[in-house]
Amino acid sequence: MNRVFRSIVRHGFPDTNRNRSLAVFTNFFLHIHPVKARLRAIRLTQTWYLGGLSAATFFILTVTGILLMFYYHPSVPRAYEDMKDLEFVVSAGVFLRNLHRWSAHMMVALVLLHMIRVFFAGAYRPPREFNWVIGVMLLLGTVLLSYTGYLLPWDQLAFWAVTVGTNMADAVPVIGGDIKFLMLGGNGVNENALLRFYVLHCVVLPAALLVGIAVHVWRVRKDGGIYLKKPESNE
Ligand code: HEM
Repeated sequence: MNRVFRSIVRHGFPDTNRNRSLAVFTNFFLHIHPVKARLRAIRLTQTWYLGGLSAATFFILTVTGILLMFYYHPSVPRAYEDMKDLEFVVSAGVFLRNLHRWSAHMMVALVLLHMIRVFFAGAYRPPREFNWVIGVMLLLGTVLLSYTGYLLPWDQLAFWAVTVGTNMADAVPVIGGDIKFLMLGGNGVNENALLRFYVLHCVVLPAALLVGIAVHVWRVRKDGGIYLKKPESNE
């Protein structure tokens, strides 16, 4: 038993400072945290936990999204029926769907609030300017996830929202028609558009966002903590 335990956990019981540091360093999930942090850097008012909460909603959306994929078919005759089944047939289907929908709204709001927090803390300034750019891409990814998910219920709201959105793209000078064609996989909101939005929503965008969030959080660690006030002591 001791050998098996030792092969997984490579440090002693975390009762000394050294073992506590090793517990963080050698753990895949914990190593993202610094071994030591100043009290001021982890105060609620420093970040309002908005970045962490954005990541938490992304996690909830991934789990509930995968569960929804067990029931949903991205096809014109089935999509709306599947939504109704989720509401009236599937156990806890309404809860699952609403959890996904509300988390999606929350994520958009949290990411925006996080960006506002970063802006007013001046945390976009060097050396964090590159992380701000990654953040802008994450915001774009979040909005696109929200937009592509909107079509999937295949109800009137979904159909007309995407009709309006793609017509706006169509209004872009010179290349507008091509952008619209690329978005829909054709000239109208139909079977091809539904499949395209589904693949973007369930595979391409979540994968891109996952990589983006990993780089973003890694950069937060590398760029170091920011102080809203000049630190007087080493607390
Ligand atoms: C999916 C969306 C996002 C996630 C999951 C996310 C996550 C995080 C986390 C966990 C932190 C560290 C804690 C904190 O400051 O709250 C952070 C910091 C930061 N984020 Fe984001 N973020 C996202 C979007 C954005 C956006 C849209 C921007 C700006 C355009 C941005 C810019 C930054 C910057 C510059 C920092 C460093 C702040 C500092 O060191 O004080 N992030 N982010």
